[in-house]
Amino acid sequence: DVIPQTWSIKKAGEPPLINGWIPFLGKALSFMKAPSTFLLSQQRKFGDVFTIHLAGRYYTFFMDPFQFVYITRNSKQLGFQEFADKMICRTFDVPSVLSTKFPEMNENLHRIYQYLQGKSLDTLSEDMMKNLQQIFERKCSQATDWEAEKMYKFCCSVMFEASFITLYGRVPAADGHKVISEIRDKFTKFDANFPYLALGIPVELLGATKKVRKELIHHFSYQNMTKWLGGSEVIQARKDLFEKYELLTVYDKAAHHFTFLWASVANTIPATFWAMYYLLRHPEALAVVRDEIDHLLQSTGQKKGPRYNIHLTREQLDNLVYLESAVNESLRMSSSSINLRLCQEDFILKLDGNQEASLRKGDFVALYPPTLHMDPEVYEDPKEYKFDRYIENGKKKTTFFKRGRKLKYFLMPFGSGSTKCPGRFFAVNEIKLFLILFATHFDAEIVENKNLGFDNNRMGLGILLPDSDIAFRYKLKSLEK
Ligand code: HEM
Repeated sequence: DVIPQTWSIKKAGEPPLINGWIPFLGKALSFMKAPSTFLLSQQRKFGDVFTIHLAGRYYTFFMDPFQFVYITRNSKQLGFQEFADKMICRTFDVPSVLSTKFPEMNENLHRIYQYLQGKSLDTLSEDMMKNLQQIFERKCSQATDWEAEKMYKFCCSVMFEASFITLYGRVPAADGHKVISEIRDKFTKFDANFPYLALGIPVELLGATKKVRKELIHHFSYQNMTKWLGGSEVIQARKDLFEKYELLTVYDKAAHHFTFLWASVANTIPATFWAMYYLLRHPEALAVVRDEIDHLLQSTGQKKGPRYNIHLTREQLDNLVYLESAVNESLRMSSSSINLRLCQEDFILKLDGNQEASLRKGDFVALYPPTLHMDPEVYEDPKEYKFDRYIENGKKKTTFFKRGRKLKYFLMPFGSGSTKCPGRFFAVNEIKLFLILFATHFDAEIVENKNLGFDNNRMGLGILLPDSDIAFRYKLKSLEK
């Protein structure tokens, strides 16, 4: 274990240390209250690199996005695995993938991420499309007149079910739909306490969380999973791999499956919500996106209006540039993932020009992309939703500048370097497919007159949830003659 050092004596070349005067907590309260505001104020005082004492650990923040590359490419001295592994073990009650009891398990699991790309990604996206289509068809029969619902609840129920069936398979019983709803409700309860678990608060102090987690894990028991029909290559490959480790108990395997389910829906659901919310709040954006979708469907010989089987290739999905830009814009506004690395040894990190930072073993290195996402020098009027920010001359825009220099990193909802999300391509496809099907099946509008903010509870941990739900209504579109 890497033990953090005390910072009683600052050595030459070390970044400025911001200790705070509260014993143990250091600056944790100011940071957690409003991370971006706090970090930017420290940047103004101390420059682009500084170390903050947060709850007994030291975090060196690199604020200049041109510095990010020096951190992400230095994966040997700036590790992540041990620290992430501990967090995952205590949060999801799984055994360590780094344990010598399970040789090469971590590497093997990473190899399986190939099934989230290439041809496997095509299959996943096609299955997701079919599953979403069926769920929307079911909703259609209820929405011949205006149907009112809460929007987060709607996105959660549709995306959870479609993702679950696509990845894990269909629960065959007549009440299969009910079983998935039960899992979803438990998932929502567990997820509400996820930030506390991730922060290290013992599960025993979190009410029913321990019981709910156990029940959730039980759903992924061997007995249950063998009954599910279909399912994806990625889950099959994980099942096959777990069978090779004799020391993994039945419970351990189920807990691993639950962990992956969490990773695959916990961020995708709020990301889908924000993409839909911003589009409905901005009718001009929705009109352009609808137009782009209609145009593609017509040009590929697929009828406009509900009740038809849409089929889109990956290339066609990729070419929906306005839709993609709208999804990216909502990710920019709502993502808050901190990127952390743990220093494995004392060393000097070389930066741009002649700059360098002396780092200590046991300290964290941190990148906080929300300050980049809200940087007015990179994004004009950053607090405004502009659905076409990622479009230039009708094509995808990937050139963003700061101080006149082109940025390598300008949008980081999926992390960076060696810890970048392996499900990112599928995630964006899922959100696009949801929006395509929603837009082709329904007319919709928000009926509650309020602006939503973010629930800061999971600041730093992924896509933020809204601070409350909002009512909207939707109605089946009339079929075109
Ligand atoms: C890891 C974001 C969707 C599977 C991560 C990480 C981020 C992230 C930031 C890195 C965590 C870190 O550095 O601490 C997101 C967002 C999503 C999304 C914003 C949706 C909008 C998905 C989906 C899947 C998935 C759909 C799978 C189908 C994973 C897995 C990891 C991960 C397995 C852990 C990778 C590892 O073992 O290193 N995700 N993710 N994610 N994500 Fe995603």
